[in-house]
Amino acid sequence: MKVSTVVHSIRRLYTIDPKREGLGVIADAAVAISDGKVQWVGPSDQAPDCPQRIDATGLVCLPGLIDPHTHAVWAGSRADEFAARLAGANYADILEAGGGILSTVKATRLATQSILRSHLTARLHHMRTRGVATVEVKSGYGLSPATELAMLKAADPKGMGMGVVRTFLGAHTIPKEFRHKRGAYVDQIIDEQLPLCAPHADFVDVYCDRGAFDLDESIAILSAGKALGLRVRAHAEQISHTGIAEAAAKLGATALDHLERIDDAGIAAMAKAGTVAVLLPGAQLYLRDTPPPVAALREAGVPMAIGTDLNPGSSPVHDLWTAATLACLTQGLTMDEAILGITRHAATALGLPNAGWIGVGSVADLALFAPPPGEPATTESLLQHMGRQGAQTMLISGAHT
Ligand code: NIG
Ligand code: FE
Repeated sequence: MKVSTVVHSIRRLYTIDPKREGLGVIADAAVAISDGKVQWVGPSDQAPDCPQRIDATGLVCLPGLIDPHTHAVWAGSRADEFAARLAGANYADILEAGGGILSTVKATRLATQSILRSHLTARLHHMRTRGVATVEVKSGYGLSPATELAMLKAADPKGMGMGVVRTFLGAHTIPKEFRHKRGAYVDQIIDEQLPLCAPHADFVDVYCDRGAFDLDESIAILSAGKALGLRVRAHAEQISHTGIAEAAAKLGATALDHLERIDDAGIAAMAKAGTVAVLLPGAQLYLRDTPPPVAALREAGVPMAIGTDLNPGSSPVHDLWTAATLACLTQGLTMDEAILGITRHAATALGLPNAGWIGVGSVADLALFAPPPGEPATTESLLQHMGRQGAQTMLISGAHT
């Protein structure tokens, strides 16, 4: 066996390997890697020989975490909107009055691609210090062919030092210059933005909601993206129920996000299509909303992932561990579900079958965490304490195919 690095003496390894039981925990474990892949996993005293050895004594090892939903490319600030919402203003009303997403659009359009890249790099590198190895990043604050393309190019995975999955979200809202001709904007997305942006994206997304796109517009946009080879996902059933979850699942959506107002038909369609539910407790908290129907999703067998939804307005949440803890506290996930939600199920939500678990053939992305002082080396300790989990060591292979 050719091995370039061995991580040994791991106090508790959470493999999250579907071939093992539960979260696939191994105590006093080692992982051998080469060529960006895991070659061997087992007890530390049986680890293969190799010159490069990393001592993980006392540490918890998880697959590099995966954040399956962010809007991490933006310019400007929405601190004034936070103040307005604390004073009682409502998110959808702010958007309909030309603020919210539209105020970020204004600032993002004025920024150069290199400014967008440098803001994004700073945000992603912070996430990396928290144990995140792969991040999904959306466009959607450009809302014109050139600015949507600039956002996606700013998020080029090359040189980022971690995995980046890109999503085209030209259908985030109707830009102000199209306010009275929304049909023309939908046509522009389909005829100009999508053909230009598809080569730089993995997914097509749409915000189907009050103040954004209606069901027919959303289906037309998702279908056009799918025809260009993009995977399908949507911001679904967040503020109002629209029926997009059922329709997008029938289109073969890989993931559907938010879901606070999903109904039984939507859940059944997701279960049938194998669509992952991406839960976003940060947005729920900041908008002081109620949780999605987690018990019904669980009952139907819909896999649940958890994202930060990092954005400058509805979810300025930079830490995936915090999102996982909030999913337990405010949405009723079990701790095992929360761990799956930021590892293997998050990888499935991004169409990455070899990421989010540690086993022979998986990508060699490992995140090593010290438990809080005096705490046992368990995921329970890591989840209970909010804001304490920096990764001690990150190994990111960058190979996600
Ligand atoms: O996922 N809900 C719509 N889109 C984003 C919010 C983006 C923003 O407020 O800038 C979300 O929460
Ligand atoms: Fe979002």
